[in-house]
Amino acid sequence: MSSDLEEELPPHVVIFPFPAQGHMNCMLNLAHLFCLTDFHVTFVVSEFSHRLLLKNTSVPATFAAYPGFQFRSIPDGLPDDHPRSGARVADIVPAVANHMIPNFKKMMAEEDFLASPHRRPATCFVADGFHGFAADFAEENGLPLIYFRTPSASYLWAYFHVDHLIQAQEIPIKDKSMDGLVKGIPGMEGFLRRRDLPGFFRTDDVNDPLLQSLAAATRQIVRAQAVIFNTFDDLEGPIVSLMLEKLPRIFTIGPIHEQQKSRLMEKKSKASIVAGNFWAEDRSCIDWLNAQPRRSVIYVSFGSITVVTREQLMEFWHGLVNSSQRFLWVMRQDSVTGKDGDDRVPAELPEGTNEKGYFVKWAPQEEVLNHPAVGGFLTHSGWNSTLESIVAGVPMICWPYFGDQTINSRFVGEVWKIGIDIKDSCDRLIIEEAIREIMIVRKDEFLERADGMAKMAKKAVERGGSSYRNLDALIEYIKSLIT
Ligand code: UDX
Repeated sequence: MSSDLEEELPPHVVIFPFPAQGHMNCMLNLAHLFCLTDFHVTFVVSEFSHRLLLKNTSVPATFAAYPGFQFRSIPDGLPDDHPRSGARVADIVPAVANHMIPNFKKMMAEEDFLASPHRRPATCFVADGFHGFAADFAEENGLPLIYFRTPSASYLWAYFHVDHLIQAQEIPIKDKSMDGLVKGIPGMEGFLRRRDLPGFFRTDDVNDPLLQSLAAATRQIVRAQAVIFNTFDDLEGPIVSLMLEKLPRIFTIGPIHEQQKSRLMEKKSKASIVAGNFWAEDRSCIDWLNAQPRRSVIYVSFGSITVVTREQLMEFWHGLVNSSQRFLWVMRQDSVTGKDGDDRVPAELPEGTNEKGYFVKWAPQEEVLNHPAVGGFLTHSGWNSTLESIVAGVPMICWPYFGDQTINSRFVGEVWKIGIDIKDSCDRLIIEEAIREIMIVRKDEFLERADGMAKMAKKAVERGGSSYRNLDALIEYIKSLIT
C-alpha cells in the first residue's frame, strides 16, 4: 500500500470480546459506535458465536451497511454440539486460552495486523478486560492497547484490592460473619459487607485458580494505554475517580446501549440498534405485555449464565404466585439443573400459572424493560441488565448469582437505592415480600428514585453529557494513535 493511500485511511480498531453473551452485547455496541464515526473495525468472534449471531440476530445485516466493518471468526476448539452455556459455561475459559488466543495471535501475525489494500494495519487493539494475554501481546508487537472492562467499575476496584484483602486476612471469609463490613476497599468501607464481595472471593483457598486467574488479568489492566468502562459518572463517578491513581486514561462511555441510540438519532440513521443475542427472541411476550395494565408486571430474568436448581425455581415460582402480581419470566432452556441430571423445567410451572404469568425462553429484554406494563425487574444483577433497567427507570429485586453481580446488587440496594437486594436467600416468603415492596408498598418511592437515575443516565449520553464527551475524547485519542 502506498503511504499516501494509507494516510487517507481511517483508524482500524481490532476488537476481541470474551465469547460470552454479556461481553458480546456491549462490545458490539462499541463496534457500532466506531462504525458511526467511519472507523474501520475488525470484530473477532468464535465460529460458534458467529453462527449464533447469523442465525438469531440482525447484527450481520446491520453491520453490512458499514463497508469498513468485518467479522473474523476463529475456532474455539470445542465440539460443535457443546452448548457453551448453562452448567457447561466454564468450559469456555480453557477453550479461549488454548484455542482462541493462539488462533488470534497467528491470524494477526500472518496477516500483518489485518492490513489490506483498503484497510490499514490495526491502529489499536480493544481487548476484553478478561483477556490478560493482551498486555504482553500488545507490548511485544508495539500495538496500542485499550482494555474494555464490560462489568462495573466497582467490581474492578474490588479486584484491585485482592492482595490487600488477603494480607489483611479479610479473605478467606471462612468463619466470619457475612454481614461484617469490609474495610480494605477504599470508597466502600461504609456499606460493603463480606457477602457483597465479588462472588469469586468466596473461597476457602486464597490460591483458588479462578480467583487468582481473574486477579492476574486485573493486574494487566494497568498496562493498557487506556481503559473503557460501560458506566457513567453520576453512577460510579466516585469509584472511577479513585481509580485514576492506577489508570490514568479512563473513558466512561455508558450506558453504551443508550449511547448507541443517542448517536443513531443524532445522525438520523436508520440503522437498527445492535443486540447480539445468542438465542432467538420470543416477541410474543410483547403482545402479552400489551394486554397488561401499566406498571403491573414484574419481569424475571437471570441473564445468560445463571443456573438454578429445581428447588430454587419452585421458591421463585411460589413467591411470584403468592405475591398476586403479574409476571413475565425468561426461562432459558439450560437454566434449570436438577438432581440426577434432570434439568427440565417442572411441568406444573407454566400450567399452574393461569393468567398471571407468561414464560419465554429468551425475550427482547431492552424492549421489555421499556414497556409501560413493566413495573419491576427480578434480576441476577448482571451489569448489562442493571444498566438496561436503570435506563428504563425500572426498580430491581436483586438475586445475584456470581462474579460482579454480588457487588452490583449492593450498589442497587444500598447506594443508589433503586431496588432491594435479597442475595443469599431463596425463600418464597422473602421473594413474595420483596415483590410486594417494589410493586405495591413502596412502589412510588422506588419509581421516583429509578426515574431520577434514568434521567441522569440519558443525560450522560446526550450531546454535552459526560459519556457523550468521553466517547468523543476516545475517538480523538484513537485518531491520535495513527503515526
Ligand atoms: C455476565 C455478568 O454478570 C455481567 O455483569 C458481565 O459483564 C458479563 O457476564 P450475563 O449473565 O449475561 O453476564 O448478564 P448481563 O450482563 O445482564 O447480560 C445479559 C444480556 O442478555 C443483557 O444485555 C440482556 O438484555 C440480554 N438478555 C437477557 C436478553 O436480550 N434477553 C433475555 O431474555 C435475557
